[in-house]
Amino acid sequence: MNTPGADLETGARVLPHDYDGIREYDNPMPGWWKSIFIGSVMFAGFYGLYFHLMDWGHTDAQAYRLELADYDSKKEVRARAEAANVSENALASGARDPRMLEHGAAVFKTKCVTCHADDGRGLIGPNLTDLRQLHGATRMDLYATITNGVPGTAMLAWGEQLPQTDILAVAAFVTTLRGQNIAGKAPEGVAVERFAP
Ligand code: HEC
Repeated sequence: MNTPGADLETGARVLPHDYDGIREYDNPMPGWWKSIFIGSVMFAGFYGLYFHLMDWGHTDAQAYRLELADYDSKKEVRARAEAANVSENALASGARDPRMLEHGAAVFKTKCVTCHADDGRGLIGPNLTDLRQLHGATRMDLYATITNGVPGTAMLAWGEQLPQTDILAVAAFVTTLRGQNIAGKAPEGVAVERFAP
């Protein structure tokens, strides 16, 4: 028996199939179910529009990336501000900061040892551990030489190669070499004083 029709006892609508005498009522989905269904479809549409198509809102991942980018740019600005504030004092306090020195030593080890040797005693470049200096005498003079290089010599303008923070750290590190008097390249330049600790 495959005809749609009404259940004989109750008069309710039944579907056309019949499994061993079992018929199925043709009941509509209940209203509460339909509202949840339509509600979720609408929510999904709104959600897709708001977060993905129009970019009005931010998903967790986007919010994270934005915050990270914000942090990075702030960090860069801070680094630049610090750079502008490089001073005799900033270098002196850098030379007392173990983390700064550690960073400076690491930069020195990768970028400077080929010419100044691992302990700064000098090879192609001058001995940085004696009490003589070619260019100026202050910490800022060292910083300036490292940043701008010495045109016409093997000493590059490291300011063009390395980020500001590296230059500051390596300059602070170099100030700690002066006066160690490690035997190496013969002293060059004018006599300078040991830096006050
Ligand atoms: C390719 C070789 C080379 C490299 C690499 C090099 N230097 Fe030099 N450096 C020199 C030479 C050569 C001089 C001397 C320039 C001159 O004749 O005035 C010099 C000079 C200097 C001076 C000045 C010393 C003074 O007596 O005034 C400082 C400071 C210095 N270098 C630091 C550094 C640091 C820090 C690095 C790494 C970031 C570095 N150098 C990497 C070759 C080099």
